[in-house]
Amino acid sequence: LYPKNQKELLEHQLKNLKKEIINLDCELKLKAKNFVFFDGTLASDIMIIGEAPGYEEDKLGKPFVGAAGKKLDEMINAIELDRKKNVYIINIVPWRPPKNRTPTDNEINSFLPYVEKHISIIKPKILLLFGNVASRSLLNLKEGITKHHGKWFNYKNPFLNKKIFTICIFHQSYLLRSPKSKS
Ligand code: URA
Repeated sequence: LYPKNQKELLEHQLKNLKKEIINLDCELKLKAKNFVFFDGTLASDIMIIGEAPGYEEDKLGKPFVGAAGKKLDEMINAIELDRKKNVYIINIVPWRPPKNRTPTDNEINSFLPYVEKHISIIKPKILLLFGNVASRSLLNLKEGITKHHGKWFNYKNPFLNKKIFTICIFHQSYLLRSPKSKS
């Protein structure tokens, strides 16, 4: 059955994307408890991309629900937006890496095409990339986040014609460890 309206079409595309990602061969899924796909609302102008699930995210199957998530909620509320209504949140890697280690280049590269597809389904107006993994992989940057924090880019998605305004910012986990970097 073909989807009738925009919302059904989105749900249909996301369901297919989820199947594709879950079926990928990846060591991480053998050790993780839950697949972490997305949180937020489908009709969102703002898409946030983090690194990978941590302990709490793995337990609940949702991105940014632990300490970094609380920090993110504060940031969203500070600009008078609502996490449930105004943003769509994913990670580059959908399975928790053991002991929260940084995902390897191999892991990042194997999920990247699906993150690109995910962006092209949601079609956000603004993309927020949190930390090194999301910033460097999607924008193909050589230098890390310290150099690019707060900078705007025109991100070109391989499946979309229009470029997306994209900003790189320090990851919440880093801000929790180094509060002086908040500004
Ligand atoms: N850090 C991330 O990058 N993503 C999460 O979902 C939680 C913490």
